Amino acid sequence: MALLLSLLTALVVFGCGPAPSLGCDLPQNHTLASGKTVDLLSRMQRLPTFFCVNDRKDFRFPQEMVDGSQLQKAQAIAFLNEMLQQIFELFHTKDSFAAWNTTRLHQLLNGVPKQQEDLETCFMQAMEEEKSVLPIEAPEVAVKEYFEGIRSYLKEKEYSDCAWEVVRVEIRRSFSSSTTLQERLRRKDGDMSSS
Ligand SMILES: *[C@@H]1O[C@H](CO)[C@@H](O)[C@H](O)[C@H]1NC(C)=O
Ligand SMILES: *[C@@H]1O[C@H](CO)[C@@H](O)[C@H](O)[C@H]1NC(C)=O
Repeated sequence: MALLLSLLTALVVFGCGPAPSLGCDLPQNHTLASGKTVDLLSRMQRLPTFFCVNDRKDFRFPQEMVDGSQLQKAQAIAFLNEMLQQIFELFHTKDSFAAWNTTRLHQLLNGVPKQQEDLETCFMQAMEEEKSVLPIEAPEVAVKEYFEGIRSYLKEKEYSDCAWEVVRVEIRRSFSSSTTLQERLRRKDGDMSSS
């Protein structure tokens, strides 16, 4: 997100001229790539989920941001980008490498930056289209807080196998759920903010 923020700053400072209105056109392979991420999160499973039922916890995913139409395009992109960034940071740790099959983990981590690049292109389009400096911090902060809760849970549980399993299931569900935002971004004529 640091890059996106600096791009945003550049836009504000240099005041890019208006561009023809473009739909935010996420490529089809982006949907495939995020589907693959969900699939990898499924296939990483090492323990039967019921085995860890006592470790379950409600991590308070900001579901309302995904379900409602409160997010404008640039904000929706910021939300998705932050999800990817946080997933990368969480799984790209030595505790994660100690817990998971490293082949699968590398596959998961390799898929993330490409999805972020697609979102970045889309973000620039959305910024031009919406012609305003949107507070993109709110969705980012919500996602950050959600992952903060996940991190402290893992720490508290001393990165046990069950804690990681609970987290895997949680992130698979929340990431999968957040991809509904992608579908709305793909709608070329879609004006998410006025629906
Ligand atoms: C890790 O996953 C790969 C790919 O699915 C599999 O071939 C390999 O046997 C697994 N390694 C371990 C240690 O389970
Ligand atoms: C989708 O395809 C484009 C063009 O080939 C590529 O630049 C991009 O990285 C791909 N995205 C993903 C997520 O694989």
